Amino acid sequence: MSTPRVALVTGATTGLGFALCRALAQAEVAVAVTGRSRSDAEHAAAQLRREGHEQVLGLALDVTDPVSTSRAVTDIHRTFGRLDILVNNAAVAIDPRAAASTVALEVFEATLAVNTTGALRMIQHALPLMRTGGSARILNVVSHMASLGEMTTSTSPAYAVSKTALLAVTRKLAAELAEDDSDIAVNAASPGPVDTRMNYRPGAQSPEDAASTMLWLLLDEKVPSGGFFHGRDPLPW
Ligand SMILES: NC(=O)c1ccc[n+]([C@@H]2O[C@H](COP(=O)([O-])OP(=O)(O)OC[C@H]3O[C@@H](n4cnc5c(N)ncnc54)[C@H](OP(=O)(O)O)[C@@H]3O)[C@@H](O)[C@H]2O)c1
Repeated sequence: MSTPRVALVTGATTGLGFALCRALAQAEVAVAVTGRSRSDAEHAAAQLRREGHEQVLGLALDVTDPVSTSRAVTDIHRTFGRLDILVNNAAVAIDPRAAASTVALEVFEATLAVNTTGALRMIQHALPLMRTGGSARILNVVSHMASLGEMTTSTSPAYAVSKTALLAVTRKLAAELAEDDSDIAVNAASPGPVDTRMNYRPGAQSPEDAASTMLWLLLDEKVPSGGFFHGRDPLPW
């Protein structure tokens, strides 16, 4: 039997991240379920093992901490020997109802530290191991609010800007990877409104339904690179 593909999902103890881990495990991908709290990550991994998925590892991972991101990749290398899929799902939305002219800069910087720099840090630490495999996929979870056309007063400035910056990171990385001989696709996708701790709006879809809209970018044999999608539909920059 060949070694299964291996995925790392950040911010995966709850919400969309956990649903993505479950969907990947159901597709017979070995999964590192990661979270800031080691016990929450181990608890979430144990839940998936109880559901019959043996190749699941719970790991502590804070995307703002370089020691933590590096250690998580080392642990995955030691346990599975490879890494094929990275999902940058971890995010904070801590500036609700703020305005760009007055948002606290500490909040602005803290948001970018997780949503943008944290995702890039994760990519930088994961890429060397991902490059050793045949092909790999990176998915940056963004939002419809990332689009420059959505920069209205009704969205949170720090959150929206952090996700727009993550779109730019996606494009820069895709351009770089296209110039080497690796088969690593990097894309950004918005799930739309999801019923999680981050979003209490009625009518939002379930985390499981939202996760299913993104799976093709992780599992299909051929995918584009440098795209911004909702489901299979491209979204405007
Ligand atoms: N819900 C929506 O309607 C919606 C819409 C568009 C996009 N999204 C995107 O979907 C993704 C998942 O969000 P969600 O809705 O599932 O919300 P969520 O349940 O709040 O999940 C966010 C996750 O990020 C983790 N996290 C926060 N800071 C972190 C850090 N420094 N290091 C590692 N993990 C960290 C949280 O972990 P802790 O438990 O430790 O705090 C949590 O597990 C996010 O990228 C979000 O922007 C969501």
